[in-house]
Amino acid sequence: MLKLGVNIDHVATLREARYRGRETGEPDPVEAAAVCESAGAHGITVHLRKDRRHIQDKDVWKLKETLKTRFNLEMANKPEIIEIALKLGPDIVCIVPENRIEVTTEGGLDVLAQKESLRETCARMKDAGIEVSLFITPDPEQIKAAAEVGAPFIELHTGAFAESFHDEKLRLTETERLVNAAGLAHSLELNVNAGHGLNYRNLRTLFHVPFLKELNIGHSIISRAVCVGLDSAVREMLEIMKEYKGGDVE
Ligand code: PXP
Repeated sequence: MLKLGVNIDHVATLREARYRGRETGEPDPVEAAAVCESAGAHGITVHLRKDRRHIQDKDVWKLKETLKTRFNLEMANKPEIIEIALKLGPDIVCIVPENRIEVTTEGGLDVLAQKESLRETCARMKDAGIEVSLFITPDPEQIKAAAEVGAPFIELHTGAFAESFHDEKLRLTETERLVNAAGLAHSLELNVNAGHGLNYRNLRTLFHVPFLKELNIGHSIISRAVCVGLDSAVREMLEIMKEYKGGDVE
């Protein structure tokens, strides 16, 4: 079954817009996580950024205490955050690039350019019983490098796919890139997740992509929640995800 990890960073973004630097404030991402879980989400994803622009340290500790499902911590491959992750012990970390001026994670991780340090991070996480996923664009060289550094998972960056959605030709190209990337990753024994820019409209097209295990979705669910409530927004996404039949494989 295709699993849903709900990214709740946007809940914290809203809180920080009003209550930055304060001990309490709403909305509470931890409370939101509990609603997502009771609606059927299989996991919760948060990104603890170096600049702490949305999720704060206190949130990740509270989540660790309260989550009943899978805890996925997105993080940069940087010493400060690696130490926090090792102490915290989420189920899985997803290593992402971090650029201070971006609104959200923009590009994929350049695994080729930091093979040695990623190999070390993967080994340290493995020793601590934490799985690792690398967030990468559907580029064969990056996928091969991800397998070489010992990551058990990759998360395919679906941003270009989502951006191309309005243009039929581009959409086909980007979907095909993802199909090929997932096939290659599977042949290298990597588990394949996907995320970024996925929404209630483009998901069914993504379902051509084979071997998907988990989708990490944030913006569209939290946006829909403003109108229909978080519980319904998560349930609607899960309903669509039930249609996934494993992609275009013979
Ligand atoms: N996966 C990763 C690695 C991300 O960085 C993000 C964005 O924070 C997401 C998934 C979710 O993207 P979106 O908010 O566009 O659904």
